[in-house]
Formats: sequence, C-alpha cells, structure tokens
Amino acid sequence: MEPVSNTAGTAPEAAAKKSEELERRTIWSKKWILAARVSRLGNTGDYIKFDVAGFSYFLIKDKDNDVEGYLNVCWHRVYPIVTKPKSSARILACKYHGILFLFRRFDLLK
Ligand code: FES
Repeated sequence: MEPVSNTAGTAPEAAAKKSEELERRTIWSKKWILAARVSRLGNTGDYIKFDVAGFSYFLIKDKDNDVEGYLNVCWHRVYPIVTKPKSSARILACKYHGILFLFRRFDLLK
C-alpha cells in the first residue's frame, strides 16, 4: 500500500503561486499597462500610486509637464517611496532612512 502524503491545502496554493508567477512573466512584464489618464496629474509634483501584478508603482508629473513612472521601492532597503494612493509632493523622501529622491526632471527644490 502506498503512503498517503499530507499535502491537502498546499497543492492549490503552490499551483496558484506558480500561475501568478507565470502570469507576471508572460503577461504583465511584456505589455504596456494603462495606469491612469494624464489629466489625473494636474500640477508638477502630483503623483498617483498603483499596483500591478503584486508590484507597486507611481506616476509623477515633472516640471516639464511630462509624466514619469517609477517602481515604488526605495533602492536602499526596499521601503515604499510613496504610500498615499494620490497626492502631491515637492520632495519625495523615503520615510525609513530619509533618502531624498530627485528624479530626472523633478527639480522642485529651486
Ligand atoms: S529604506 Fe529607504 S532610505 Fe533606507
């Protein structure tokens, strides 16, 4: 007689995780994603945060009136840079250790 393994509950979870990872690799990492209308970002420094496939991103309006998109992760210790779904900022700073983020055309310190 074969021993019965005690995997009840783990197989569906593992399959779901595998499916999610496959979806992330084959769909979300290769396609453009509509995150928001530009009109949602009115002024320089306005930003919106959104999640796609388990990752957090944000869009921010720069001083040239362009919209830039970033992964919402501080490069120091992977703390989120923005936490509010929508807001405006003159300076973005990580709240964990205080690193300031000066984006390519986000020269708002002047
Ligand atoms: S985690 Fe962001 S400054 Fe350290």
